[in-house]
Amino acid sequence: MSNNSDQAGFASKLGAILAAAGSAVGLGNIWRFPTETGTNGGAAFILIYIFFMLFMAMPIMIAEFTIGRHGQSDVSHSFLKMSGNRKMWKFMGLIPVISGFLVLSYYAVVAGWTLEYAIQAGMNDFAGKSAAEYASDFAAFSSNPFKPLMWLFFILALTFGIVAMGVQKGIERGAKIMMPILFVFLAILVICSLTLPDASKGLTFLLEPDFSKVTGATCLSAMGQAFFSLSVGLCCLCTYACYFRKDLDLIRDGFGVATIDTLVALMSGLMIFPAVYSIPGLSPDAGPSLVFITLPNVFQQAFGDLPAVAYVFSLMFYVLLVMAALTSSISMLEMAEAYFIKRFKVSRFKSSMVVSIVCFLLGSACSLSFGVWKDVTIFGMGFFDLFDFLVAKFLMPIGSALICIFLGWVVDEKVLRAEITNEGTLRQPLYPVFRFIIRYFAPLCIILIFLNELGVFKVLSGLL
Ligand code: PHE
Repeated sequence: MSNNSDQAGFASKLGAILAAAGSAVGLGNIWRFPTETGTNGGAAFILIYIFFMLFMAMPIMIAEFTIGRHGQSDVSHSFLKMSGNRKMWKFMGLIPVISGFLVLSYYAVVAGWTLEYAIQAGMNDFAGKSAAEYASDFAAFSSNPFKPLMWLFFILALTFGIVAMGVQKGIERGAKIMMPILFVFLAILVICSLTLPDASKGLTFLLEPDFSKVTGATCLSAMGQAFFSLSVGLCCLCTYACYFRKDLDLIRDGFGVATIDTLVALMSGLMIFPAVYSIPGLSPDAGPSLVFITLPNVFQQAFGDLPAVAYVFSLMFYVLLVMAALTSSISMLEMAEAYFIKRFKVSRFKSSMVVSIVCFLLGSACSLSFGVWKDVTIFGMGFFDLFDFLVAKFLMPIGSALICIFLGWVVDEKVLRAEITNEGTLRQPLYPVFRFIIRYFAPLCIILIFLNELGVFKVLSGLL
């Protein structure tokens, strides 16, 4: 890549994959997945989500890897190169810029909440509170006009600091250590949560699907969640894949990242929902606040007799959560900042600074939509919900559809096959399946779900 030295590359083969996994695993799994599952009715949503994960998000992730690695350059040049010099596809380079701003602005708000909770855990603030107090404390915190903005600022400053220094090695090493610890912690918390009173109600919610409640909107949400969770559709992974080595097995490694990501999401579901039912008055469709209300309660209830253990556990968990959020927010900042470096030839420092400042302003609007700006709505949504909607239910599906059309219909099949099979050195028996999904299945599904959401089918059935 032309600005390779600038981005400092990834030191090892594992490093690039880990960075992609770090981008994927984040608040999308531990915070957004339970939120979406809760508001969309539970088990049926999860099954549809897994379906979209396997047959859409994962193949599209592999598609992004393919384009990025083939191009070895920034997004617009990677599309240009792979298309055999068709200039019009250069516009794809704009997708990561626009979406980078949108996604980082609201994601950083929630990342800021995790920082507040990490500090509270450090000060032992969770001890001795009743379940209802966790709910009222969160409501008071998130609607406060100053505190969340301060944490938003800190998170963006941290993200900026890491990206500006270009410490990819730090990210690699950090990810290698953090990921397994996060996994072990989740496993322990799942077990704790399952021992809480009324946990079985939560399990029923997660395991007994009620398909009668499934609508087109449920499908759009499940698809959006699968895309969000794997960071696909915004060409973020394309950016990372330009550092991938030529001997990586893209299909196998894509499958690896998707498996880890799905497991983390399912585990956080198993951690949150049994706990929801043990808090009187809290319902699974509580929305974005769910995780922040249930988790402190799980820690206190599960280790109530051992306050020191409760303290250490909650502190470590929130610190890990902050880190998981950071490895994702870094990738978001990279998306927008890489473009400005290339386009305007500015330094990495300046470019990251400008993006961070704009995201702070936009993020402040998102944060205030939980409090003083609650009543300010656009299309019936507050800023936070609007940004989330635009990213997960609009830009990600559209970006994904374009990636599929590009790889399935525009790119020469020989070029695609050569990239996926590493110039014929890998057998790749799944290649025909991958190509079928990318060429027909995924774009068609996305279009159908969109048309359904727009109400086209209702109009048609009325006409018939
Ligand atoms: N996949 C990330 C998560 O689960 C979020 C993300 C979306 C990261 C888009 C980068 C780009 O938290």
